[in-house]
Amino acid sequence: MGVNNVTILGGGVLGTQIALQAAYYGFNVTIWLRSEGSIERTKPKIARYSELMLADLEGAKALVGNPMGGFLYPRGLIRSWDGITVEKIDELIAAGRERFANNLTIEIDLAKAVADADIAVEAMSEDPKAKTEFYELLKDKLPEKTILCTNSSTLLPSMFAEHTGRPEKYCALHFANTIWKNNTGEVMGHPGTDKAVYDQVVEFAAAIGMVPLQLHKEQPGYILNSMLVPFLSAAQALWANEVADVETIDLTWRLATGAPAGPFQILDIVGLETAYNINLMKPETQQEGTISNKLSKLLKEKIDKGETGVNAGKGFYDYRK
Ligand SMILES: NC(=O)c1ccc[n+]([C@@H]2O[C@H](COP(=O)([O-])OP(=O)(O)OC[C@H]3O[C@@H](n4cnc5c(N)ncnc54)[C@H](O)[C@@H]3O)[C@@H](O)[C@H]2O)c1
Repeated sequence: MGVNNVTILGGGVLGTQIALQAAYYGFNVTIWLRSEGSIERTKPKIARYSELMLADLEGAKALVGNPMGGFLYPRGLIRSWDGITVEKIDELIAAGRERFANNLTIEIDLAKAVADADIAVEAMSEDPKAKTEFYELLKDKLPEKTILCTNSSTLLPSMFAEHTGRPEKYCALHFANTIWKNNTGEVMGHPGTDKAVYDQVVEFAAAIGMVPLQLHKEQPGYILNSMLVPFLSAAQALWANEVADVETIDLTWRLATGAPAGPFQILDIVGLETAYNINLMKPETQQEGTISNKLSKLLKEKIDKGETGVNAGKGFYDYRK
């Protein structure tokens, strides 16, 4: 495909991961940040995520020959587990380390950052007003050739298409957190996205180790969150309604479906603040006496105690041991 130069717009959690993932697969990557101050915030993220990616490759060596290896390896970093050897993983680690050092540039001048971009991925905070203003600022700086994607989780590309100045070359490419392991690339156009552009984004997603998942139309929450949000919400309602405790609900799910994690284990990874904010969006949450209202109070209690999930060391489960 014709993509060599990739620009990532925003260097937060996802922006950093996408940049590293593209660099790992040999693309020439520029991360655009809005200020000198952002550079100091993003550099430690680059260091942290690159080390995590390399550590997961290192850890994969112990899985070679293990019957569970094919389920547990970092799928975004190893294209195929068939025929994998410790030596091949060592080669990937060496190449990855070199590309993280050589293929990544940080730029705060927006025009320079996109000057030769074949594809640009917007990964800025989930703020529709800020995104709109940013697209307006960006549109005259982007070269004619550039395909523009958004990684937005909750906003639809049609909300911004006209502001990009290139609606036909704009669509969503949505990643999941820890993209080198959970390598979904949901590709979602808006009604004005050119089919050839859409196909190139599908190809690009595969080229950076994602499994492209194609949506045929716009859908809030894409495929994953359209299923995950109601599922997690149903589990939380069982808990708030005192039908069963957290451990029993998780155990039921794991035993009956063979899934490795239950809904509260997933919620601990997502983070309780996100669960709280999603619950707040339901109109009935404001109404005293409803299960959503009770859930809101229960989640708030845990958040106030600092029990916000795996990252905090404690959520529904304790990870400090
Ligand atoms: N965190 C996730 O699990 C996840 C998963 C998939 C998609 N996303 C999506 O990715 C995008 C970024 O999420 P994140 O989790 O990386 O957020 P984040 O808060 O870690 O990073 C957002 C970045 O945007 C920058 N930013 C904010 N406003 C800006 C502006 N006006 N101009 C330039 N830069 C600006 C911030 O400085 C920060 O570096 C969002 O659209 C989100 O919906 C997030």
